[in-house]
Amino acid sequence: MFSHERVLIRRGPESGRPIIVAVHSTALGQALGGCRLKAYPDWRAGLDDALRLSAAMSDKCALAGLPNGGGKTVIVLPSAGPDPADDAELRRAALRDAGTVIEELGGLYATGPDVGTGPDDMVTIGERTRHVFCRPIAAGGSGDSSPGTAAGTIAALRAVCETRFGSGDLARRSFAVLGLGRVGGRVARLLAEAGAKLVVADVDPAKRSLADELGAAWSTPDEALAAPVDVLVPAALGGVLTPATVARLRCAAVAGPANNQIDAPSTADLLHARDILWAPDYVVSAGGVISATAVELRHETPAQVAARLNGIADTLTQLFAAARRDGVTPSAAATAEARRRISRPRGQAG
Ligand code: PHE
Repeated sequence: MFSHERVLIRRGPESGRPIIVAVHSTALGQALGGCRLKAYPDWRAGLDDALRLSAAMSDKCALAGLPNGGGKTVIVLPSAGPDPADDAELRRAALRDAGTVIEELGGLYATGPDVGTGPDDMVTIGERTRHVFCRPIAAGGSGDSSPGTAAGTIAALRAVCETRFGSGDLARRSFAVLGLGRVGGRVARLLAEAGAKLVVADVDPAKRSLADELGAAWSTPDEALAAPVDVLVPAALGGVLTPATVARLRCAAVAGPANNQIDAPSTADLLHARDILWAPDYVVSAGGVISATAVELRHETPAQVAARLNGIADTLTQLFAAARRDGVTPSAAATAEARRRISRPRGQAG
């Protein structure tokens, strides 16, 4: 079923690249979602990604208790030939194009960083629109959102351990972190600081030095997926949980900040059938958008932001309890709660 309010597909006037801005819902307020800059086989694959990711953002914002809906921007880079992400001029032109398309929506949607983009890129997008979060602090924004996402993930992991093992103490548990990028690297560090036992993996062999620094076991992403740990923490690109990979898991729970972890809703049922507790990714990864909006829109203090990020743990605990009570998966409980919040008329609290 097509459920998006608006989808703009443009050939970028400055870059010639396909630019897709998907606005899934503004029922709760302005739609939010990052700008992904990535190679795709073709623009249709980029459109698929934008549609799925923007719908997930609606659920993410609703369950984070934000007065916002979901959207997403995808800049489609070609997957053949030299890596266009290395072509600084083309990259900047494509980012300005994204700004131009976002500006067309007149504030219905605001963007932020995502896979392939960071705070400096938000300045470039900002040359064409003011509807952009997470510019560097020196440029008047709230800067990198990954510390917020990582802090929210740690709160989520405490809630998962509490529900699955009866204690939220991370020091007593083992984790396999898949992906050591801006968020995954921070999550691994925070887990190491908390005294957890760690296996880490990344497609980039250079990340091995971080594993050594943290005293973590280094492994390939494929091995890490099937590592015998308490919790698997997907922190890279989506689609890691499929019927084939779920069959190989040896963990008791899966919870991480990667977006779109399950390939299809039925995969959540497979996890449930194997008695593996899955924390819906869009609940776990809400820390970035929570912290960016807390700082830039509500001018909250660091203590207030931290309290909001810790709120992710309460949200998850409630979802796990509701799932158990109703005999459904946490994924189904999360979807139902998000639908309930999104369909409630605006301004109605509780
Ligand atoms: N890309 C992030 C997300 O998907 C973070 C983000 C988006 C931050 C929009 C601010 C605004 O949640």
